[in-house]
Amino acid sequence: MLIRFKKSFEKIAMGLLSFMPECKEVRKLQETMQEYGRNKDWHLYLWKEEDILGTIGVRIEGDVAVIQHVSVNPSHRNLGIGKKMIKNVREQYEKDYEVCADHATEAFVDKCDMESSSSQV
Ligand SMILES: CC(C)(COP(=O)(O)OP(=O)(O)OC[C@H]1O[C@@H](n2cnc3c(N)ncnc32)[C@H](O)[C@@H]1OP(=O)(O)O)[C@@H](O)C(=O)NCCC(=O)NCCS
Repeated sequence: MLIRFKKSFEKIAMGLLSFMPECKEVRKLQETMQEYGRNKDWHLYLWKEEDILGTIGVRIEGDVAVIQHVSVNPSHRNLGIGKKMIKNVREQYEKDYEVCADHATEAFVDKCDMESSSSQV
């Protein structure tokens, strides 16, 4: 299930965020984590089963909710966690916002959207 980030999960969240291409550099990773702490328009979520297995971020820009920082523990990839996180975030935000993806997550989000729309036909 998707849970809101808490400070006690900071280390695990940073480990997961470090798989994002733009967070490979430690300084950038730290800045990203700090932004989630201080910017009320940046929301970070974690995917929790027995352990924390993924992250997904949302950045609010006016009427738009931008999906960013989608990352899954490498040992648990290709099991549908990424798709479930996108679906959950969409359901949560699409009532109030237009939901889109940033450059880094766009291809994956497009794939998820395509699959969910074809499964509804
Ligand atoms: C991208 C990522 C979050 C996917 O998580 P996951 O839990 O393995 O994804 P799912 O199991 O729900 O879906 C896997 C499917 O997505 C595809 N996929 C993986 N990365 C993708 C990408 N960047 N763009 C498009 N499709 C992608 C896989 O090929 C697979 O396709 P299939 O269903 O046709 O076999 C994971 O690979 C990851 O953490 N990557 C490192 C972080 C990263 O690069 N994030 C930016 C992209 S979101």
